[in-house]
Amino acid sequence: MYLNIALLGGDGIGPEVLAQSVKCLQAVEHSFGHTFSFTKADIGAVAMKKTGEPLPEKTLKICKNSDAILFGAIGTPEYDQNPTSKVWPEQGLFKLRKELDLFANIRPVKVFPALAKLSPLNRGNILDTDLVIYRELTGGIYFGKKKVSKDGAKALDTCEYSEKEISRIAHLAFKAAKSRQKKLTLVDKANVLETSRLWRRVVTNIASSYPEVTLNCMFMDHAAVEMILHPNKFDVILTDNMFGDILSDQGSAISGSIGLLPSSSVGLGHAMFEPIHGSYPQAKGKNIANPVASILSVAMLLQHFDLIEEANAVISAVLKSFAKKIVTPDVLGSSKYGTDYVGDFIANNINDDNDDDLNI
Ligand code: IPM
Ligand code: MN
Repeated sequence: MYLNIALLGGDGIGPEVLAQSVKCLQAVEHSFGHTFSFTKADIGAVAMKKTGEPLPEKTLKICKNSDAILFGAIGTPEYDQNPTSKVWPEQGLFKLRKELDLFANIRPVKVFPALAKLSPLNRGNILDTDLVIYRELTGGIYFGKKKVSKDGAKALDTCEYSEKEISRIAHLAFKAAKSRQKKLTLVDKANVLETSRLWRRVVTNIASSYPEVTLNCMFMDHAAVEMILHPNKFDVILTDNMFGDILSDQGSAISGSIGLLPSSSVGLGHAMFEPIHGSYPQAKGKNIANPVASILSVAMLLQHFDLIEEANAVISAVLKSFAKKIVTPDVLGSSKYGTDYVGDFIANNINDDNDDDLNI
């Protein structure tokens, strides 16, 4: 297969972890006889320094012309600590999501048996945790009208959703649930928010088209607790942009490190793959960032194109790195291995004769 992949390293540790993913994709090319071409483009603070824009036109064009985008991370302390700035790096990511209509952000949460000790929840049976969050990504409070008063003493963010925005991701989530454990949990705040009440109405209506799936509606505050107490009870979680952002970070803590979890953002015409972690600026250039979340995003990319054996080869190489303790210090405090070393180990172990148990 030929794939044209845009590489958006972005800020902080983004480019470092992305470089490991490229090694893995090259290993897949060689082992399975595919051809991937890579085009690098700037986004975030890096792009602002060069062009003044967090998402330059050139980058948008490269993304629009690509089959898939691999994204690193975005954001720097310089802008985080300067909330009066009118332009900031994250706006580049929002614009990209919107322009490409990447409305569904899919974030799987699993506990890797070899790393279960890492989990702060390693007291009960968390090993069978296998949930996936369907986070709406192009609407809600992230994209509603915003305003700051002239004197800067008041600010406003609005949360808006339409039936159409809710139903298109709801259908994807129901389909996913149908092919999994057949449980869908809608997370909202329908006891407070009008948008949440709309979500409940639309999703409850759609549920009748998926009789094999059990729909459960849960308030966000309760869901936060349930996810910690009984993460293994969830199957598919469907939620809005903001709640999905928060719940997926919480999900990563269940796995033990935020450096482990991948995600995909898909729409009808485009697809982007990225770790769920941020730009971790403290670690930039230190060769300590965990490349696994980015490498598992490569596995999601391959699955997206139905390259299942190839995706399994990547996952199995990652599992081998866990088994052999070739991991970064966030996973094993005493580890001497850096980002590059772990990336090389995983890439070198990607081959087409894997028959390992992929039950992760
Ligand atoms: C994420 C990130 C982004 C978000 C940030 C970087 C703007 O936290 O992808 O979860 O809030 O969507
Ligand atoms: Mn987030």
